[in-house]
Amino acid sequence: MLRFGLRYSENGSYSRALVAESFHRFLSTNTGRKLQDKVALITGGASGIGKATATEFINNGAKVILADIQQQIGQEAAKELGPNATFITCDVSKESDVSRAVDFAISEHNQLDIMYNNAGILCCNPPNIVELDMAMFDKDMSTNVSGAMAGIKHAARVMIPRGSGSILCTTSVCGMLGGLGPHAYSVSKFAVIGMVKCLASELSKYGIRVNCISPFAITTPLAMEHLSKMYPHVDAHKVEEIVNNLGVLKGAICETNDIANAALYLASDDAKYVSGHNLVVDGGFTSFKNLDYPAPDQVQ
Ligand SMILES: NC(=O)c1ccc[n+]([C@@H]2O[C@H](COP(=O)([O-])OP(=O)(O)OC[C@H]3O[C@@H](n4cnc5c(N)ncnc54)[C@H](O)[C@@H]3O)[C@@H](O)[C@H]2O)c1
Repeated sequence: MLRFGLRYSENGSYSRALVAESFHRFLSTNTGRKLQDKVALITGGASGIGKATATEFINNGAKVILADIQQQIGQEAAKELGPNATFITCDVSKESDVSRAVDFAISEHNQLDIMYNNAGILCCNPPNIVELDMAMFDKDMSTNVSGAMAGIKHAARVMIPRGSGSILCTTSVCGMLGGLGPHAYSVSKFAVIGMVKCLASELSKYGIRVNCISPFAITTPLAMEHLSKMYPHVDAHKVEEIVNNLGVLKGAICETNDIANAALYLASDDAKYVSGHNLVVDGGFTSFKNLDYPAPDQVQ
């Protein structure tokens, strides 16, 4: 017998809406398709974490719009992901593009349930503050910070009237501890973690959850390009090895699927009471430091 937790309404009968809601919840939690009939917009969806998340969302029943500045790669990704993926060209540093992408989701699917502000850049800036290129700093800020802010703003515009929604952002371990990344990139990611808490505060009263994910280093084009500039004399395979050896958790490396799984959790009803949270996917890296004690036999 199917049991899907019906709620009894105040007038003593089961309303159609309650039955439908309970049945939907039953379906999505018992069939393993946690985002059945949900619509998601993913910025930076053409590559890396965004594309892996789009795949995971579609496998869980969602329709996904990939919004990215890279038109050709984005169109190819949408084709590869099949009929439940659509691509729209979007530069998140332009508010009008973000607004247009949100309106596109509504015109295509009549709803937007999940907004994932994932697009990001890592501009190469000299490591010392005295030589900081302010134009490069502004570039990091306009994509990573303004892009996420515009994403939250326009998602909220269409989610508030429906009284529900899940908004996600990709931040970074570089936004949790100083010294891990270039200053501008790190500052931009610190800002997004703060942004998520600020906006969760306003949007909670509309039933909209706002969360972020802080990944550790992953060998996506963003990280590979940055590291390749640091090690111009070695090949891509060696750079991959360097990235994959940065972590502290023995026997595992951080992969795009790990972030896609975190995004699926936060976007789905599994996280229905989670908001304002920064889900750190770093194998413990930012949780501890080890004291470098000398070995007992080296101390007289
Ligand atoms: N790879 C890592 O080590 C790592 C670690 C922590 C956080 N992150 C964050 O993850 C997010 C995704 O990056 P990724 O690692 O998957 O790299 P990626 O290079 O595979 O993907 C980034 C995507 O963002 C798109 N993009 C860049 N600027 C854009 C703009 N103005 N408008 C729209 N799209 C734009 C790119 O075209 C690309 O498709 C970024 O926010 C990044 O800062 C990455």
